[in-house]
This record gives sequence, C-alpha cells and structure tokens, in this order.
Amino acid sequence: MARVPQDTIDRIRDSAEILDVVSDYVELRRRGRNHFGLCPFHPEKTPSFSVAPDKQIYHCFGCGAGGNAISFLMEYEKISFVEALKKLAERYGIELNLHRDDGSEKFFSQLYAVQNDAVDFFRKKLHSEEGGKVLDYLSSRGLSDETVERFDLGCAGDRWDHLLSVAKAKKVPQEVIEKCGLFTKTDKGIFDRFRNRLMFPITNRGDRVVGFGGRDMTGESDAKYLNSPETPIYNKREILYGLSRTREAAREDRTVVVVEGYMDFLQLYQHGIKNIAATSGTALTTGQVSQLRKFADTVYLAYDGDVAGRKAAISAGYNLMKGGATAKIVNVPEGSDPDSWVVESGADSFLRGVEDASDVITFHFDNTSFDLSIASERSRLADEISAELGAIGDEIIRRDMVRQVAERMGVDEEAIIRKIRGRSRRTGPQPAAAPEASASPLSSAAKAEREIVKLLAAGDSDIADLLKANTDLDSFSDPMMKTLAGYLLNSGGGNGNLSGALDLFQEKGERERASRILLEAATEEDAHRVAVDCLITLERSPLKARIDEARIRLRDVERSGKDPAEALSSVMELRKQLTQLEAKRKSLLEGAE
Ligand code: UTP
Ligand code: MN
Repeated sequence: MARVPQDTIDRIRDSAEILDVVSDYVELRRRGRNHFGLCPFHPEKTPSFSVAPDKQIYHCFGCGAGGNAISFLMEYEKISFVEALKKLAERYGIELNLHRDDGSEKFFSQLYAVQNDAVDFFRKKLHSEEGGKVLDYLSSRGLSDETVERFDLGCAGDRWDHLLSVAKAKKVPQEVIEKCGLFTKTDKGIFDRFRNRLMFPITNRGDRVVGFGGRDMTGESDAKYLNSPETPIYNKREILYGLSRTREAAREDRTVVVVEGYMDFLQLYQHGIKNIAATSGTALTTGQVSQLRKFADTVYLAYDGDVAGRKAAISAGYNLMKGGATAKIVNVPEGSDPDSWVVESGADSFLRGVEDASDVITFHFDNTSFDLSIASERSRLADEISAELGAIGDEIIRRDMVRQVAERMGVDEEAIIRKIRGRSRRTGPQPAAAPEASASPLSSAAKAEREIVKLLAAGDSDIADLLKANTDLDSFSDPMMKTLAGYLLNSGGGNGNLSGALDLFQEKGERERASRILLEAATEEDAHRVAVDCLITLERSPLKARIDEARIRLRDVERSGKDPAEALSSVMELRKQLTQLEAKRKSLLEGAE
C-alpha cells in the first residue's frame, strides 16, 4: 500500500485551506466567525453545515458530519485518504512522492521486534534467580505454570537500564527506542519504563505483541499497574487484552465475558472460561465495541463489585447497546472481582452469576444513587437514561428499552420519548450520533474533561497556560478527550489550526464528535473560573470514589468487630485531601486577579 510520510501529510494539512476546499462544492455565507451553507451530506433546507476557518474544521449540526479538509474530500468524493492527499497536494503544489522509501515499513517492523525482544527478556528474568519472588507471587495468586507460559508472563527487574542495554546491544535505532513505549525519556536520559513489575504482554488482533501492562511488585509504587503508552502500533482505543487468544471461543456461542483486569482474565481462563477479554480498567470505547461485535452478539460485563466497577459497567453496557450488542451485567458481589470469585467459589458459581446477569436498565435501576422514592430524583434518573437511549441507533432495541424504563417508572412511554426528544432538540437532530458525555449526571468528571478540551481549543493563551500547568492527563477517563487534550496541550497554543487534531481519529463517529466539540469551542467570559472548576472536579471525583470505598471498608471492619482505627484514619485522611482541594481551588481562582 502506498504510504505517505507523516511530514508530507502535515505539510498538506497545514497548506490546505478549508474554505477553498469546501467552497468548491458548497455555497457558503459568512455569519460571525464561521461560514454556513446547506449540508452536502444530508438533505436540508436551512443551513446547518458550518465551517470554521480559524480552526480549519467543519461540522454539520444537522447530521453530525465533521472533519478537516482531508476528510471532507474523502467523504464528498468517496475517495481514500491517499487519494484525498493527492488532490490537495496537486492543488497546493506539494510534491507527493509515493514511491519514495521513507523507511516506515522498516520502522514498524522494528517496533514489533522490540516488543518481542522485551517478551523474551521479561520471561527469562521471571525464570532467573531475580524472578523467584515474582514466581512465588504468581503461585500465591493461584496461577499455574501453564497459564504463565501460555500468556507469556514475565517480570521486569530492579535496574533502570536493563532492557535498554539489551536494545542498545541489538543496535535498535534511537527513534524506535523513543517511540516503542518501553522506555521513558527524562531530562536525565532514557530509562526502562517498567521496573520491579510483573509483566503482561498485550497483543493486537493479529496476536502480535504491541505493549505491556505491568503490576507493581514492591507495594510502594503510586501506580499498582503501569501500562505502555499509546504508540504507532498500540492503539488503545481498539485493543482488548487477550482477545486475540479467545476470539474463537467467543465465536462459538457468539458470547463474550468482559472483565476489567489482567488477573481477572487469566484466572477465568485458567478455570476454563475462555470466551473472555479484559479492558485494562479503562472505559469501553466504540472501537473496542466494534472489535467485540465481530465475534459476539451478547456481551456479559463482569466488573469489580464496587462503586466504581458498577458505574463503569453501566456505561459500558450502554456503549455496547449503541454498538448493537446485547449487553448484560453480572452482579459481582460487593468487594469481589471475577478473580477472587472463581478462586473462592469456583467456575460453576461464576457461571451461575453469568446466567443470572441483569439487563442494563435493570442493573442501572438497582444500582443508581438516586432515591427513587422521590419524584425529582426519579426524573433525574430518567434524564440520565434518556441521554443514553437517544444514542441507540437501533429503533427496536431503543423502543424495547423505553418500554422497560416507562414500566419501572410507572409513567407512560410517551413521557420517556419526550425526554429523549427534548434532549435531541437541545443538541440538534442527531439520529445515531455519539452521545455527549456531559448528558449524564454519572459523569461530572467527563463533563470537566470535555470542558477542558473546549477551553484549550478556544485558544485563550492565559487559560491555556493555566491548564498546561495544572492538567493531569492521566486523570482523564474518556480516551477521546484525553487524546484531544493531549494534542491541544502539546500543540503549543499554535495558530488555532485544529485540523490535525481530527486526524487522530480514524473512526468516523469519533471524528464527528470531535469536530463538534472543537467547533463549539469559543472564549467564554468567565473562562478562568470554569477552567479552575474543571481542574478541581477532575481531582475531586476520584477522591470521592475513594472515600466511598474507604467508607465501605470501614463499615465492613466495624461489622466484623475488628479494630476500625486504621480504616477510620484512611477515611479522615481522604477527607482532609478533599478540604485541601477546596483550598487549592481558592488559590487558583485568586491567581486570576
Ligand atoms: P484492579 O485494581 O481491579 O486490579 O484494576 P486487579 O486486576 O484486580 O489486580 P490485582 O488483583 O490487584 O492484581 C483492574 C485493571 O485496571 C487496570 C489494570 O489493567 C487492572 O488489571 N489498572 C488498575 C491500571 O491500568 N492502573 C492501575 O493503577 C490500576
Ligand atoms: Mn483483583
């Protein structure tokens, strides 16, 4: 396949003028900062197709289409990415030498090769003297030698340059070392990313290793698990741990069980439950849903039995339904996860749990934090659910769910349908478009993430500085917002051209959602306050979840009659952090004056 070097793509993108390109096909009229016209992608009488020349992107508020100059040509002319590049290159006089060997083939095969070297290296280490403790740990968790071998588990030792010296000895080029995700670059130099960790290789669809998850073995690291970052070969939005080894088992009954953790995966597999995949603890993305859909129609979510696990399962459930799958949520006992469940009670007990799994609506009602004896809280739950239902494209599934919700709420179906319509009027007619994360009260953090992206895209340099100094990308849970925020934080405030950001999304639905968010971004009057609130929300929500968990622990300890002092002090400590956060908020707000 013809591959265009990235620097050429960048040049083409930077030279292409979105107004020129779109004007060839659509009559545009200027209104304020943006230009409007009749959308070429769906029939309409009043213009809802808008082009933002300052941002170099377009978005249709009618049908949701959106993207940059390249994707406009692809969609309008129904041509490939490379063909669109060719057209633009011609127009702007840029040389596009497709036959030039830019070395990218080689670069990719080197990226794969380093991962394989690392698998070997970690595996040897596990079976060396240094790995003894880790082997003991594995057997204490009940994993057999066969499982360890089948999934190529290994361990990383204590040194900062162990794997690095192997790579250097093999003369791995510097660029590969920097881009493969196995090393970290600091101002003091390049070091092994994984140290003192139990290593889980992560494979792609073709069963090639593209990255690793590593579990801390010291008990001292802030991160219990550390994962490879996204790299040219590791697309986190698409990959599920283990699926390349379990897809055939899933295909048999077109059924798959999705768990959160590596350990959950391995333990179930070892107990003979083989139609499984793991998310690595992140939200289930559209890309992952479409991977699962290839092998399964029914997906059982067996997430951790805690507040965070249940919330994540509910939102994964809706995402699956949006992707046309039947989703069921397993009622994992409080305080357990699938790993501890099968270890303590056996595979049959777990399988009974799978059989008794709830449908998403039932599980959502059973686990909502709203008090359903109060009408206003019932209404808020209905809002929350309507937001999700509006995004379900399949009418039969949607209607069935509307009926379920109406029955449970004791209202007629029309009332729920009105709520769904009410939403879509507010956000413009968007048949099966991706949902706005903000729609659900489950996700004040998701709303904050989106708001931060918008503030960055609006291009006010003071606000950008504030966000650059204080945003912790690792705390983002929506992978799309994380990608956008990462791009915007690193693009140096630039010239406001955002078309490059849209190239980060290969999936059409994601690109459309991104174009909308970026297009809507505009400088607000109280942007500073909004920015500070978002930053604080992002820190506060995980803290609140931890407080919830700590409270549950405290209750358990008290019930069991043990000394609650330690559990109590951890609740107090977390509360203190919450107070400190309030102080931080004040000081950031004062920073504005
Ligand atoms: P859990 O905290 O539930 O871990 O995170 P676990 O799988 O039960 O692990 P054990 O039993 O303590 O060994 C679930 C998954 O979330 C991801 C990992 O993929 C993990 O398997 N995770 C968790 C991270 O990526 N980073 C973390 O710091 C924690
Ligand atoms: Mn566990």
